[in-house]
Amino acid sequence: FLTSGFALALGYLLGSVPWGLVLTRAAGLGDIRAIGSGNIGATNVLRTGNKPLAAATLALDIGKGALALWLAGYLWGETPGLVAGFGAMLGHAFPVWLGFKGGKGVATGGGVLLAAAWWLGLGAALVWLAVAALTRISSAAAMAACAAAPIIALFAGRTDLALFSAGIAALVVYRHKGNIQRLLAGTEPRIGRKG
Ligand code: G3P
Repeated sequence: FLTSGFALALGYLLGSVPWGLVLTRAAGLGDIRAIGSGNIGATNVLRTGNKPLAAATLALDIGKGALALWLAGYLWGETPGLVAGFGAMLGHAFPVWLGFKGGKGVATGGGVLLAAAWWLGLGAALVWLAVAALTRISSAAAMAACAAAPIIALFAGRTDLALFSAGIAALVVYRHKGNIQRLLAGTEPRIGRKG
């Protein structure tokens, strides 16, 4: 129980580093929260027009999710690893440093799934890519990948990972409230467009 608490805290701290905000500020692009959707993720960093910065945000947000799970898994075992992965999601979505207003957890969740089971992360990423190629809409791709992850885990006979990825998916979809409204209204921007 105590190790789970440590794992949650470690994951939260790693996840709470808002890489998109840090990198865009360092690059002199101002506050990413005043651009596009206002989100701190790679999709919104791409709206600044700086592709390498968006790629770096994606890589670091994936990395922090994967690192949380790997590190806690290495220190305390498999279940605390998953707890830390969920902690990273909470840290990314509700970072204390930004008044608990953080990101949507797509890249971070992808990193967590990848570290939990490589085939699960890969499967979700492939669904993301397929839907993104079809629709050019990042949020639609993200929610399709979220829906697919528990199904992939079930097909692999991993009920534990199905439940875990369903929890991650629930948080990601919850954080996409505004995107869902824009999708229904037909006003959600395509990838790389400002709006
Ligand atoms: O990674 C979040 C993505 O699904 C949506 O981002 O900026 O279009 O709200 P955004």
